[in-house]
Amino acid sequence: MENFTAYNPTALHFGQDVIQDLGNTVQGYGQRVLLVYGMGSVKSSGVYQQVMAQLTKIKAQVYEYSGIRPNPLLEDVDAAAELGRVKSVDVILAVGGGSVIDTGKAIAVTIPVFHSAWDFFTGRAKPQRAIPLVAVLTLAATGSEMNQFAVIQNNRSKNKLGFGSPLMYPRHAFLDPSFTLSVPPDYTAYGIVDLISHAMESYFGKGDASLSDRIVWAIIREAMEYGPALMNDPANVDLRARIMLAATLALNGITNYGRLSGDWGVHAIGHLLSVLFDVPHGATLSIAYPAWLKVMKERQRERIVLLGKNLFGTDDPDSFIRQLESFFSMLGSPVRLSQIGLTAQQHIQIREHMSRTKATGRHLALTEEDYDHLLALMA
Ligand code: NZQ
Ligand code: ZN
Repeated sequence: MENFTAYNPTALHFGQDVIQDLGNTVQGYGQRVLLVYGMGSVKSSGVYQQVMAQLTKIKAQVYEYSGIRPNPLLEDVDAAAELGRVKSVDVILAVGGGSVIDTGKAIAVTIPVFHSAWDFFTGRAKPQRAIPLVAVLTLAATGSEMNQFAVIQNNRSKNKLGFGSPLMYPRHAFLDPSFTLSVPPDYTAYGIVDLISHAMESYFGKGDASLSDRIVWAIIREAMEYGPALMNDPANVDLRARIMLAATLALNGITNYGRLSGDWGVHAIGHLLSVLFDVPHGATLSIAYPAWLKVMKERQRERIVLLGKNLFGTDDPDSFIRQLESFFSMLGSPVRLSQIGLTAQQHIQIREHMSRTKATGRHLALTEEDYDHLLALMA
């Protein structure tokens, strides 16, 4: 086991109607609220109206920044931070999926400074202060609601980078599973893929941590049991709740106790597909993970066999990888680049981008030959 420090200050409010406490919680930080949301799902689902009722109750002064896109953009972070700075907001309220919450986190540390948020992502600056962030989650997937990370896309430099700071944990996260009932089948599936991938990234991290391994298996088994059930019965709030909790726990730190970090090599490949072709995050992972496991089959044989045994009861790594791939397909998430319509010319772009950005894991390095191999397997 590796040494570790466990720290997670987010207060998680989970269950039906937890939103009733939102107004008072926000008021604890002040009256001037920067409300951040996406392209409009919160309005059609009715979540926006419930949030506004809470803010009206406390007579909050609300400034809105909407239009955050899936694969959220740096320009929105910087523009929203400018709005928050000019209006001297006391608190940021992010209402949406991972893209909106990640944007909220980046805004939180950018309001107190006078440079672009990108300086944090590239390591040129370190946040010293943050405006408090409260999150209302509407999509089960990333775990952003209870972690310190944000992933932001810069279309100018063609990079999608992750960054984390203890200042970026949401102070409170409100998770009402009924808020996810309106998530369409594709994003429901991508969320299940994403949470499984987070557990696996941790599993392939550095550090011999048997209890954390068992937590990984438990989270993935939960997703394997209730994920398909949810795809068949998307209006079932109880199934929505199970997947929502699994997604939160898959990346709130508990799978990482006793490890230095997760690997995150598959996410690096996934981010590259998102930045080049705007592929939804979960879809990038159902394509990249089976290919990565095949590339790592000999180098990580023992770990892959152990995972296969605990998830599918097989000692054969090929059978495990095949079954995982079938599972992703069965959910309705793509497992090949051809399924998302990429051309041969676009494959060349991916290959160039792999080398240019040196996409790799923190623990398991990817070489130039691995890139060739990965691309052939993902095709
Ligand atoms: O924009 P709106 O209209 O809200 O629609 C969104 C969006 O189109 C829609 N949606 C969200 N809640 C809904 C809903 N539609 C109907 N009903 C609802 N209740 O879903 C679409 C996708 O939303 P998005 O927030 O992009 O999805 P997700 O939660 O999967 O977030 C993906 C982003 O998170 C990053 C990814 O890279 C990606 O940019 N990640 C963040 C991580 C973190 N902070 O720890 C870790 C992850 O590995 C991941 O990298
Ligand atoms: Zn992810």
